[in-house]
Amino acid sequence: MKILIFFAMQEESKKTVEHFDFKKVTPTNSPLPYELFEQKIHGNEVFLCNAGIDSRFNVNAVGTVPAALTVYELATKLNVDIVINPGTAGGFKSRGGNIGDIYLASKVLFHHREIPMGPYEPYGIGTFDAYDFGQLDQSLHFKTGVFSSSDSLTCREHEIEFFNQHQVIVKEMEAGAIAYVCEQLKIPYLGVKSITDIVDGGRVTAEEFLENLETASKNLQQFLTALLESLKVL
Ligand code: ADE
Repeated sequence: MKILIFFAMQEESKKTVEHFDFKKVTPTNSPLPYELFEQKIHGNEVFLCNAGIDSRFNVNAVGTVPAALTVYELATKLNVDIVINPGTAGGFKSRGGNIGDIYLASKVLFHHREIPMGPYEPYGIGTFDAYDFGQLDQSLHFKTGVFSSSDSLTCREHEIEFFNQHQVIVKEMEAGAIAYVCEQLKIPYLGVKSITDIVDGGRVTAEEFLENLETASKNLQQFLTALLESLKVL
């Protein structure tokens, strides 16, 4: 099987790249800034990428647009069978979320695409399917639930109502875009998010996120190690 793993940030991907001794692919022959790596893991051909560094702003190219462009380009070029999207996210204490928790997506929504105009309303929200985690090894430790994406780290007051109404358990910035690409390409989207901050916890999100980024990235590496083992070719 060919697997594409997409991380938004270099910091999120570093521990996984090192753990598996992924080899960097250069040049990538792309106008996009992503970094691409490859490795054979348990009989699968695994490609790992991060969105790369934006050349104008010199920060990770986070958010929906670079995620969609990168995953579309690589998934089609490499003809992958599945996209795994590990990353960091905000969780909700009101729905049992804790810093460091690992969540797998059951559905993926957009919370910033408000189009109250008949059928455009559900189109905006998206409600994309995700990989059926019922197929995974029972020994893997994870929680599950609804992911929701927008291009903002911050949370606006009225968005809380959306999160409660849709029982959102993970708030992040790429899943919706990648799940959309996967839907078009008819390949499964497997979202894996580690919680760095609590949306309804009262802390300043950016501070809490930076405090927990390293631990969350380690948790992702450990989970991916177990996940890739469970996806091994027998
Ligand atoms: N990534 C990590 N924490 C996040 C949050 N609270 N919202 C969006 N993306 C995030």
